[in-house]
Amino acid sequence: MNILLLGSGGRENALAWKIRQSEKTDKLFIAPGNAGTALIGENVNISATDFEKLKEFALANGIGMVVVGPEDPLVKGIYDYFKNDPQLKDIPVIGPSKNGAQLEGSKDFAKAFMVRHDIPTAAYGSFTAETLEDGFRFLESLEAPYVLKADGLAAGKGVLILPTLEEAKKELEGMLNGMFGDASKTVVIEEFLSGIECSVFVLSDGDSYKVLPVAKDYKRIGEGDTGLNTGGMGAVSPVPFADEVFMKKVNERIIVPTIEGLKKENIEYKGFIFLGLIRVKGEPVVIEYNVRMGDPETEAVMLRIDSDLVELLQATADGTLDKCELKEDPRAAVTVMLVSGGYPGDYEKGKVISGLDQVQNSIVFHAGTTEKEGQIVTNGGRVIAVSSYGANKDEALAQSFENARKINFDGKYFRSDIGFDL
Ligand code: AMP
Ligand code: GLY
Repeated sequence: MNILLLGSGGRENALAWKIRQSEKTDKLFIAPGNAGTALIGENVNISATDFEKLKEFALANGIGMVVVGPEDPLVKGIYDYFKNDPQLKDIPVIGPSKNGAQLEGSKDFAKAFMVRHDIPTAAYGSFTAETLEDGFRFLESLEAPYVLKADGLAAGKGVLILPTLEEAKKELEGMLNGMFGDASKTVVIEEFLSGIECSVFVLSDGDSYKVLPVAKDYKRIGEGDTGLNTGGMGAVSPVPFADEVFMKKVNERIIVPTIEGLKKENIEYKGFIFLGLIRVKGEPVVIEYNVRMGDPETEAVMLRIDSDLVELLQATADGTLDKCELKEDPRAAVTVMLVSGGYPGDYEKGKVISGLDQVQNSIVFHAGTTEKEGQIVTNGGRVIAVSSYGANKDEALAQSFENARKINFDGKYFRSDIGFDL
């Protein structure tokens, strides 16, 4: 089968790596891809949200399945676009319908969904410019710190955590006045939860489901989880605290009600569900839903899936996931992200990357890279993910750190304390 994978980050490089290993894969195309995906498949210079061009390409290249990496195309309705087009309707898209993608595309929708289905999540209120005063009153009823979330997609920047009531009120007003454009026309205010987080990935065909290896990502730029939030500086799988007892609760209280809830509300969902969880006094609580795999978690999780991913994705499309087995690799897997100096603030692009050929016993996934005049150069904040296996996380991390030191580009930075809290 010819497969079209959408996206251009480290997550997509890792998905491409795993898809390529399947005997079921004939040609693999990545739109638009990066310098790493170009080594595994064929990059196609089409944006992941240009549905008309993707249609043309899919028809001209006998595409049998579309795998969607990032949230944007899903929130914009790529699933429905294919399903409702007479020429495309037989090409399955792995991902939720536009309706289902609201679990990530609208925090207000996600919170209301969780309340309707009795899924544990932080107490909240939703406010607009018209109800600003009510928002202030709601903030006053909470204790510091204060959590403000833009309702819509804001490229991972839409969550603010403020230490004082004064700042929270000021930022609420700013958000409702367009700080994140239309994305913050509605703002969700949440009770602050304190605990350790993990990422649980579920692959669902709308009825049955498989829980993929659990991972933990490290979002802050600085060691010891300090400084600004990034797209993610590294990840570790498995997560020791996500043990059998914890995961049983996750299954019963979160996964099953989520899938049943989608079914009850007639929301089509054949794809990945990403549960951002926090453990509060031993109990799992949902911080957020995403409707895709996580980045950089995917760069660790794919290493831990022994089964044929394409088989699993086909079963997802066909509604036969219950007949598949998900085999996990018992080893630990980690990823360490090399980022551009200055990230997540301003940074320069186009720095030549050297040492990639020196890497041993790790798997290099490209995130923000491109090819320029025969050289691989930086093309984003997160540049390269160095993933490794180990008998345990420390062994795997030692391997990734060793290789992270061999790869160089002007301004390179990475966190050398990934996994420190586990
Ligand atoms: P997000 O951009 O939605 O992934 O949120 C960013 C981060 O904000 C999460 O990973 C959490 O660390 C934090 N966060 C979000 N909601 C809450 C909450 N209610 N309580 C504490 N931390 C939160
Ligand atoms: N690593 C978090 C995310 O992908 O949103």
